[in-house]
Amino acid sequence: MSFAVRSAQALRAASRRASRSAVNAVAKPQVASYSLLARNVVAASSRRSAVQTTTRGVKTLDFAGTKEVVYERSDWPLAKLQDYFKNDTLALIGYGSQGHGQGLNARDNGLNVIVGVRENGESWKQAMEDGWVPGETLFPIEEAINRGTIIMNLLSDAAQSQTWPKVAPLITKGKTLYFSHGFSVVYKDDTHVIPPTDVDVILVAPKGSGRTVRTLFKEGRGINSSVAVWQDVTGKAKEKAVALGVAVGSGYLYETTFEKEVYSDLYGERGVLMGAIQGLFLAQYKVLRANGHTPSEAFNETVEEATQSLYPLIGQYGMDYMYNACSTTARRGALDWAPIFEKTNLPVFEKLYESVKNGTETRKSLEFNGRSTYREDLAKELKEIDDQEIWRAGKVVRSLRPDNLS
Ligand SMILES: NC(=O)c1ccc[n+]([C@@H]2O[C@H](COP(=O)([O-])OP(=O)(O)OC[C@H]3O[C@@H](n4cnc5c(N)ncnc54)[C@H](OP(=O)(O)O)[C@@H]3O)[C@@H](O)[C@H]2O)c1
Repeated sequence: MSFAVRSAQALRAASRRASRSAVNAVAKPQVASYSLLARNVVAASSRRSAVQTTTRGVKTLDFAGTKEVVYERSDWPLAKLQDYFKNDTLALIGYGSQGHGQGLNARDNGLNVIVGVRENGESWKQAMEDGWVPGETLFPIEEAINRGTIIMNLLSDAAQSQTWPKVAPLITKGKTLYFSHGFSVVYKDDTHVIPPTDVDVILVAPKGSGRTVRTLFKEGRGINSSVAVWQDVTGKAKEKAVALGVAVGSGYLYETTFEKEVYSDLYGERGVLMGAIQGLFLAQYKVLRANGHTPSEAFNETVEEATQSLYPLIGQYGMDYMYNACSTTARRGALDWAPIFEKTNLPVFEKLYESVKNGTETRKSLEFNGRSTYREDLAKELKEIDDQEIWRAGKVVRSLRPDNLS
């Protein structure tokens, strides 16, 4: 079983547990000390943030005082979607996590989809396992582009840059160029991906892994995605982008720009989503260990309680709810220390945003992921994390979770 599949399964299991514990927290007022009064305030404020205006599936919503446009799947019933794309061939170039999820969803939605990947590479084999047929729906990259009208470039970001000299001349007038990340075109000085001026260039970026794109679709739900237009030649680019977003499995689509999408994405994953969280967990764990706490105690107080009990509450009801669900002692200390962490980390986040904006992060990523040894190099670094005492202790703690007791 691949790492991605295992991670997706683990995530789904964790999310099921999280929903259960959050539901329990609400169902049992003696556990969560969130008062009825406070809950009523939450309910009232959720009602206040309801839809402002709706025009044919386009909603203008008030996000904490700022009005933003959101598109929704309900405006694109299946028959309308199939009719809209009846003369199109969606050529999915690349069959990694997103290619798999978006491609299968569009195919299941009844659209004409073909896949283009390196012949006999890993993706070629994976695509065949998923039912794409060589010579019918599975082709070498260049042939798929020639056959497609909508070229969905879902190669890895480094590969988009490496293959561009061969791909560019095939993106001829009348075709549409689609990305799931603003990376290649926004950082064109580094990637050299400069789209032809006579095609629509659009983006749909699902806010999650391609595996989640697929599993949510199969459950009848839709992932949230960003949608943006880089170049509108036909005057239909935005409409096409929204329709494609729905076709590949989106439920809601948040309007953005290519720049904003890539800046926030690179910043977020280096920050709280991945980089900062590993750094913070490790720093907290190290201090506990240096002060004589056992590995299990240090892990439980750093990671286990966070991921299993508290963070799911933030996800479902917000930060104030989580604070209210904890003891008065915990609340007082957390309220005092939160601004200290904010002040200390603000300059780090400012430095990170600048590093994203000025292309430093892109150049590093292109260099690393463009190496022929990138898979082995990455595996080595991830093994180093896996070998850290914190995560070795975590394996034992996880095995003792209530769910695992027979
Ligand atoms: N993964 C996510 O969570 C996520 C979320 C939102 C958006 N996105 C964006 O979606 C796009 C695709 O990402 P992904 O994660 O699905 O893909 P990925 O796993 O990074 O890319 C894999 C694909 O790129 C191909 N590839 C790699 N090097 C190549 C080369 N030198 N020549 C030809 N093909 C090459 C692979 O083919 P082989 O098997 O033949 O090597 C495979 O089909 C990216 O722009 C990414 O930023 C990703």
